[in-house]
Amino acid sequence: MGEPRLPAVVVVTGTDTDVGKTVVTAAVVALLVGVGLRVTAYKPTQTGVAPGESGDMGEVERLTGVPTSEGTRLRAPMAPRPAARLEGAALPTLADHVDIISDLSAGHDVVVVEGAGGLLVELTDDGETLADLAAALPDSGAVLVVRSALGTLNHTMLTREALSHRSIRLLGLVLGAWPSHPDMIETTNLDYLSALPEGLLGQVPRGAPALSPDVFRGEAPTWLPGLTGMAESAATAQRRGTP
Ligand SMILES: Nc1ncnc2c1ncn2[C@@H]1O[C@H](COP(=O)(O)OP(=O)(O)OP(=O)(O)O)[C@@H](O)[C@H]1O
Ligand SMILES: [Mg+2]
Repeated sequence: MGEPRLPAVVVVTGTDTDVGKTVVTAAVVALLVGVGLRVTAYKPTQTGVAPGESGDMGEVERLTGVPTSEGTRLRAPMAPRPAARLEGAALPTLADHVDIISDLSAGHDVVVVEGAGGLLVELTDDGETLADLAAALPDSGAVLVVRSALGTLNHTMLTREALSHRSIRLLGLVLGAWPSHPDMIETTNLDYLSALPEGLLGQVPRGAPALSPDVFRGEAPTWLPGLTGMAESAATAQRRGTP
């Protein structure tokens, strides 16, 4: 049996905010670029950042050197809908995001989309979420970023269930910040998460965002061994001109 196919859009979601989605997005981008794919990243809604400041996509660009884009940006450090309400701003619609991603897909082999907070945070004025966006895209799959610490199992299982309920393909889990000296809770969590059917794509070591961009780009592919085969198959297919 061959490798599972890498989708054209990889949606990076998490069990919560601050779980390491941005760093994992950068690591996924670095891995895909490393195998020779044309890759970009897109953040539909960036909150908590003023005009001109660096947001999550700025961090991905700094770590990977790959140009990225945002759908909209709001100043308040809160969920997109209340943040937009505070500014009296209209959020892009789901169709807007689908159009932007399809334009990006036309020039790239893979578009990596980073959500805001967890999977069911509302991204549009009609209350659609990243899950709705993933479901609206013709060829997408999700990477679920999870914590290593106590509490992660329930949050992980809830998010998996929500993905499955919407028939969104789950490519696998990633531990967003894996310590160099895990405690017993973390090692038993790792065992549990690794045994789930979709499997663990890998773990980003704690401290990764502080690495120099050169070191980050060199090391990131080794953190996500579960994605390597899929990425290499996609790169081979791309070189041969087969879908
Ligand atoms: N592997 C790691 N080692 C050390 N710090 C990390 C690691 N991953 C993330 N962090 C830090 O934790 C914080 C949250 O991470 P990050 O911004 O990636 O979370 P997020 O899930 O993208 O949050 P948001 O919902 O705001 O997009 C940041 O300050 C980041 O630098
Ligand atoms: Mg982020």
